[in-house]
Amino acid sequence: MIRRILVTSALPYANGPIHLGHLVEYIQTDIWVRFQRSCGHEIHYVCADDAHGTAIMLKAESLNMAPEQLIQEVSADHQRDFAGFHVAFDHYHSTHSPENRHFSSLIYERNRDANHIAIRSVRQFFDPERQLFLADRFIKGQCPKCASKDQYGDSCEQCGATYGPTDLIDPYSTISGARPVLKESDHYFFRLPDFRDLLESWTRGGHLQTEVSNKLNEWFAAGLNEWDISRDAPYFGFEIPDAPGKYFYVWLDAPIGYMASFQALCQRTGMDFSQFWSPDSTTELYHFIGKDIVYFHALFWPAMLHGAGFRLPTGVFAIGFLTVSGIKMSKSRGTFIKAKTYLEHLNPDALRYYFAAKLSNHVEDIDLNLDDFVIRVNADLVGKIVNIASRCAGFMQRSFNNQLVPVADPLLTELIAAGDTLADGYEQRQFSRVVRDIMALADRVNQRIDEQKPWALAKINPADPQIAHICSLGIECFRQLITYLAPIIPQLAEASSQFLNVDNMHWNNRHHLLGEHEIRPFKALLQRIDPAQVQAMVAASCDDLTQTTNVTALSTASQAVTAAATPDYIDIDTFKRLDLRLGKIVLAEQVEGADKLLRLLVDLNEDQPRQLFAGIRHAYPDPSQLIGQLVVVVANLQPRRMKFGVSEGMVLAAGPGGADIFLLHPEAGALPGMRVQ
Ligand code: 2FM
Ligand code: ZN
Repeated sequence: MIRRILVTSALPYANGPIHLGHLVEYIQTDIWVRFQRSCGHEIHYVCADDAHGTAIMLKAESLNMAPEQLIQEVSADHQRDFAGFHVAFDHYHSTHSPENRHFSSLIYERNRDANHIAIRSVRQFFDPERQLFLADRFIKGQCPKCASKDQYGDSCEQCGATYGPTDLIDPYSTISGARPVLKESDHYFFRLPDFRDLLESWTRGGHLQTEVSNKLNEWFAAGLNEWDISRDAPYFGFEIPDAPGKYFYVWLDAPIGYMASFQALCQRTGMDFSQFWSPDSTTELYHFIGKDIVYFHALFWPAMLHGAGFRLPTGVFAIGFLTVSGIKMSKSRGTFIKAKTYLEHLNPDALRYYFAAKLSNHVEDIDLNLDDFVIRVNADLVGKIVNIASRCAGFMQRSFNNQLVPVADPLLTELIAAGDTLADGYEQRQFSRVVRDIMALADRVNQRIDEQKPWALAKINPADPQIAHICSLGIECFRQLITYLAPIIPQLAEASSQFLNVDNMHWNNRHHLLGEHEIRPFKALLQRIDPAQVQAMVAASCDDLTQTTNVTALSTASQAVTAAATPDYIDIDTFKRLDLRLGKIVLAEQVEGADKLLRLLVDLNEDQPRQLFAGIRHAYPDPSQLIGQLVVVVANLQPRRMKFGVSEGMVLAAGPGGADIFLLHPEAGALPGMRVQ
């Protein structure tokens, strides 16, 4: 039976580049979509840029651009990056589009008319200079509990206290620095509690992963709150119908962007929108999302849809975050590798394969360990899969004119039969299991070739028909394996179908063997990854970080080899707040139990030297060489308690990481304690 399926991935914000953390989700979705399509199902995959909100408005302003221009440029970059990774959307739209305005208004009005919207006055901090209301993340001040400075409006990073923005001592707007004032204004609320029964039954109805529905049970137990869906002008978004100066909060119109994108696809292709979205639809609707946005997709979104008379999703699938070599990637901490940077150095299939090899259908974080990545891709894709084709193709070309001969063999039968279990694995999003099983089959094929030793036969008689038999079997098996892997590695699959001289890699075509068939001359299908490529990518990511000064601040545990950051600018005043001083290293030693750290004692011409922990051990394996050297120290960094003691500042260095880290050495003649101008 042919299924009709609509699939979405979460919409990336239009204010920054796609990085490898994003790609886990898009690659996961794309693999699933390609698999379904390969099985002959009708499947549509749509996405869009998430273009609204204060962050985008401010970013455009800081770049001296209209937000419309910013989102257009970012969208072009996003689409280029997705295409580079073969993430093949059927349509890529924007939430800042006429279709989205239409559906946002419609969904709002239907909910309003059904009495699911409330209006109440809210007192909130307001920036009198910039004339805008401040979301909590734009307010900082002193912690009311421990008095630490520059803490956000919701919690203190130093003592862990949680509070509201109005509790801060000496609050200031992070946008203008002005002291915010409290101001009242009307806000529009979506009455989520009206949907409690519906949501309780839907979230337990098999539409979510078990761990997600368990989490939702906790939220139900804590009680559902009404949801504030309006923001006051100035705001980049859609004005609420009949409410001048009030705008839909970005998270209201973001998921509606799924509909808008699909509507645009329908307009392009003539498909019927309502067949997919009407309450009695027999089509399937799946949203692939990150684990941080479950609340929006499993509560607000189904409730809004239901309140407006649309169907509910068939499934919402959440995945975890990406860590790189064990460290969490996050924009604010600035540890990410951009999609574009990756593509400048490495093959997209390699990352798709590596992610697939790690992905399950659970909400787990996955780690990209760069050493393991090189080893695994080379061992599996090059060493096991492509190896089968390359070792057989040479014989076929030399002595048999590339003419395969028909073969029947239990190994081949077994490979074909394995397709059913593998299909089940794909369907269930258990890609790591799929990959493991395919590689086990590849091992069997390689073993068979090893046992039959066509190279030994060829020494005696290169035209021995037995060689054609073994190598035709190898190539038939290769074709099965590539069919199974094709959703994961589309580029390699395309190159392989050229070589095999077949039109497509459809899942069910595997039942028709190649038989008597001419293949094309073999060309290298995939290059081994040279670790130097990875190093170059990491170095280039560091360049992204150090665009202007090429200085990397090194402290404590922040030494991911792969650390890189957003090129977000700081203003000159922020920079001036750094107290940079010259210091003389009087002691440098390794730290037991910390393979990246050195303990330094640095003389800043104070009462006693400061103790600093720096992640530079790989670069300075003999720490004694540092003794006596002058370095630049950030002297006013908040002291940080570590397992090994308190770190009282930070030394500055430059370089991509690992062994390539270079402390900045001021000219001889400078004195400890001198301020750096
Ligand atoms: O968290 C995010 O990155 C959001 N831009 C995701 C939106 S998904 C959907 F609801 F639009
Ligand atoms: Zn505190």
